[in-house]
Amino acid sequence: MEEKLSSVAKKFTPSPIQELSDLAQRCNAINLAEGFPDFPAPSCIKNAAVSAINSDFNQYRHVQGICDELALIMKRMYGLNVDPLTDIAICCGQTEAFASAIFAIIDRGDEVVLFDPCFETYEACITMAGGIPVYVALDPPQWTLDPDKLMRSFNSRTKAIVLNSPHNPTGKVFSIAELEVIAEACCKWDCLAITDEVYEYITFDNQKHVSLASLPGMQERTIITSSLSKTFSVTGWRIGWAIAPPSAASAIRNIHVKITDSAPAPFQEAALTALRSPAEYFETLRAEYQSKRDFAVELLTSVGFQIQFKPQGSFFLFAELPKNCLLSDVEYVKELIKQAGVVVVPGRGFFHGESSLDQSSKECCSYQSRYIRVAFCKSNATLTAAARKFGELMNATGYPRLHF
Ligand SMILES: Cc1ncc(COP(=O)(O)O)c(C=O)c1O
Repeated sequence: MEEKLSSVAKKFTPSPIQELSDLAQRCNAINLAEGFPDFPAPSCIKNAAVSAINSDFNQYRHVQGICDELALIMKRMYGLNVDPLTDIAICCGQTEAFASAIFAIIDRGDEVVLFDPCFETYEACITMAGGIPVYVALDPPQWTLDPDKLMRSFNSRTKAIVLNSPHNPTGKVFSIAELEVIAEACCKWDCLAITDEVYEYITFDNQKHVSLASLPGMQERTIITSSLSKTFSVTGWRIGWAIAPPSAASAIRNIHVKITDSAPAPFQEAALTALRSPAEYFETLRAEYQSKRDFAVELLTSVGFQIQFKPQGSFFLFAELPKNCLLSDVEYVKELIKQAGVVVVPGRGFFHGESSLDQSSKECCSYQSRYIRVAFCKSNATLTAAARKFGELMNATGYPRLHF
């Protein structure tokens, strides 16, 4: 059978990080790896989902009310005029919205500019569509975007750029100046932008998320993707959307219908309740995540990390290993599981650029093997338990055993 598999399928093998997940499971480790909350979703939206099931919203369904609500939100938050009848496709999470958007615009050989590091799924979708990912490295420690590097990555084959802000894994919120450079490149090369805004409501220290589509000349060339997943702690509901000019939105809707028909009906109904949440809901979400962020920063600082970049948004802390730590990211995570019973993600899986970097050069010297990603989207009980475990790593000398 194996020889019958497509060449694309053959490329998607389980990552080496799978081995770490297995080890974490065997050690029953506290999970600060996975990007989903371990605390309950808001009761009112759960009740809305239960009520939708009991009211028999259990068949294929398109809930137009979501589009109406999203159009109001886009106007209120970003000043965008969105036609709810033509400009929105409801999908199964941002993941499917993104995949459908890629299939809607990418032909074989089209180049797509991505930032490095980035969320893992983009490259898979682009290559499945026959596109070619072109990476632009964000410069550590602040993950700054170098405008010249960006401009050099565009050419006549560039079809689109992907922007994820607030950013997984770094927690960076792209500045207005950076958004302007991206917009300038898109307009100059007549390219599209696909944004991933799933962390749009999770920003800290008075940082404000600005949608790239709201910059001059951008709405007509931007496909916004986002979802309920992170904002309402319902990653398993699979409700997301793409918002785009009518021709792109229609293409995305057609692809979505061919692949999945529709997003889960009862959760679409419950999305109406979620999207109509009062302003206080979003304020509380932000404040709670900010205090979890501060907790995570303190936690790592207490075991010898020097946090050079405090997340400005999202719910991830991307931390460079302490200078005196001789382990690579993968080795560190393995030891952390074994010695502390806590699991985080080795950073290398988020890096793609200089893809020629082979395993051994990654091991010894590149910065791509010097980061770990800590997900702080966890209950205070989980975070406190993790802090206790980290504390137990400290030697009588005041240094963690792990670093040497
Ligand atoms: C940047 C980013 N985009 C998208 C997703 C997935 O979103 P959804 O659950 O809506 O498919 C994640 C989940 O971790 C993410 O971190």
